[in-house]
Amino acid sequence: MIIAAVLAGGKGSRMGNTETPKQYMMLGSRPIIVHTVEKFFVNPDIDKVVVLCPNVWVKQTQDLISKYIGETDKISVISGGASRNDTLMCAIDFVETNYGLDDDTILLTHDAVRPFVTHRIINDNIEAVRKYGACDTVWGATDTIVESVDGEVISNIPERKNMYQGQTPQSFKAKRLKEICNSLTEAEKEILTDACKIYTLKGEPVSLVKGEVFNIKITYPYDLKMAGILLEGVKADD
Ligand code: CTP
Repeated sequence: MIIAAVLAGGKGSRMGNTETPKQYMMLGSRPIIVHTVEKFFVNPDIDKVVVLCPNVWVKQTQDLISKYIGETDKISVISGGASRNDTLMCAIDFVETNYGLDDDTILLTHDAVRPFVTHRIINDNIEAVRKYGACDTVWGATDTIVESVDGEVISNIPERKNMYQGQTPQSFKAKRLKEICNSLTEAEKEILTDACKIYTLKGEPVSLVKGEVFNIKITYPYDLKMAGILLEGVKADD
């Protein structure tokens, strides 16, 4: 079984509009979250879509999905957690309780605020998980990455050709993801906020899936403006 978890449990504080988390802001004629959920909903290889949002937004999210996508039992809306990782754990628990976890259960996890994910990226994630057990969607760094441990002077400049920017989906065999997350101590859980990083530190392979430069995460008001322009571009290409 292949399940997509759309992570929408955040507050969007960097967007500055804390009343309405950014995933509910309009992009063209529909809320951002609807664009994102629909990408997974219409993919024939995805069996179920779980949307994880703040507890107080569950009813509104269900209403938005009914309004813009329609009534369907392919999509479930549940509460996320306090951190992005907690939201991910809620997704695993939901999948285990409702569908069971076996070796073929694949979980794609995707930021609700990346509405420009493509079917090619989704399909490549599925293929990569089948082959490697886990994958991360990335885009080769265009700028040189400069590392500074103290924020004052450069400590390292890694070779740009080896550097990538992480996007989502990040996808996993759900049973192994649960085992690995459960093996972390509370102290490790505090530091290890990225599931792919957890795999890497545990010595498990995480394959790279090529993302897209336009698979942006809407974080700041500037990104929302860019997303509006991108959406117009997508429409013009149709
Ligand atoms: N997310 C989540 N659960 C949380 C926190 C974040 O599901 N407790 C989701 C967000 O809703 C978003 C994605 O993780 O779709 C990427 O996170 P980010 O862009 O950092 O979102 P926010 O945490 O909402 O933003 P900010 O850090 O500006 O508050």
